[in-house]
Amino acid sequence: MQHRALGTQGLRVSAIGYGTMGLTMAYGPGDETEGRATIRRAHELGVDFFDTAELYGWGTGSNERLLGEAVKDFRDEIVIATKFGFDLADLSQGWGLNSRPENIRKVADNSLRYLGTDVLDVFYQHRVDPDVPIEDVAGTVKELIDAGKVKYFGLSEAGPETIRKAHAVQPVSVLQTEYSLFERDVEQLFPVLEELGIGFVAYSPLGRGFITGGAKPADEYDEDDMRRNDPRWAPGNFEQNVAAVERLGELARAKGITVPQLALAWVLRQKDYIVPIPGSRSRSRIEENTAAADVELTDADLAAIKEILPTGGFGARYAQVPEWV
Ligand SMILES: NC(=O)c1ccc[n+]([C@@H]2O[C@H](COP(=O)([O-])OP(=O)(O)OC[C@H]3O[C@@H](n4cnc5c(N)ncnc54)[C@H](OP(=O)(O)O)[C@@H]3O)[C@@H](O)[C@H]2O)c1
Repeated sequence: MQHRALGTQGLRVSAIGYGTMGLTMAYGPGDETEGRATIRRAHELGVDFFDTAELYGWGTGSNERLLGEAVKDFRDEIVIATKFGFDLADLSQGWGLNSRPENIRKVADNSLRYLGTDVLDVFYQHRVDPDVPIEDVAGTVKELIDAGKVKYFGLSEAGPETIRKAHAVQPVSVLQTEYSLFERDVEQLFPVLEELGIGFVAYSPLGRGFITGGAKPADEYDEDDMRRNDPRWAPGNFEQNVAAVERLGELARAKGITVPQLALAWVLRQKDYIVPIPGSRSRSRIEENTAAADVELTDADLAAIKEILPTGGFGARYAQVPEWV
């Protein structure tokens, strides 16, 4: 497995990472045993970058605990990224953004405990909080870095102004935002990342499973699967996206690879500072996805992909797309 640098502070990770979100949320009920086995298989295959968040356990730590247990025998060989920025204290009252310094400190201590580690390699703000100046957020993460609890600072779904202000207080190593053959909007931020020397993590690089050939009509997913309400699965968009993925499938087959491998190789090919973090609950799919690191896309392949999906997929990536500030 090749490695890539994220930012200029020293963070280096496998070219393909692994996202644990789907093990406990978003895509219907998961299986913890298979989840742990999948994480371990990813490590055996050379993945050393694991992405979790406070949110993925709805404040109970379930996702971070699962990851921490799975990696305890090789914790020192890997990079663990987690995220703060929500108020999940009383879900009966709903949940919202909370990047106040006291909450950031509390989430850091909880994440350290749940993960069973003494340092968080990457600590991301999960969403920009309009009620808290980003300088205060960056300053709080800086304190955590100075205290040895955090190594690198990341932002998720942030816009240029936020990135610049944060970076002036505590250098940002990485921005994480959705990016895939379907979702290209974030390309407009690449010049800022290049100017400031910030790496990029592509989340949902398989379009939440659409760019695999395995998408089903929305109402066939589990009751609590978020894809039931994803605009890309809405009638009209769904059929156009299926047709595009079928055409990608023809291209992939001609190259002797699969659609997920084509999709991940495309992300890797865009910039050398991009690391995709696909998620899967199954060991065999991790093997398939990880092998994408060795796929070479030719200029002719890129041109063929561009012809199929010139600017991305059909339909927005959320019912309410986060606004970048
Ligand atoms: N910062 C943020 O706000 C944010 C938001 C969303 C996600 N993320 C991060 O990004 C990670 C990945 O995103 P994601 O899980 O939303 O989307 P994704 O990686 O684009 O897609 C995951 C879906 O694709 C399916 N899949 C994966 N590999 C496959 C293969 N080879 N063949 C067929 N199906 C395959 C998975 O199903 P199976 O499990 O059945 O294989 C799962 O349903 C998350 O785990 C999380 O860490 C961050």
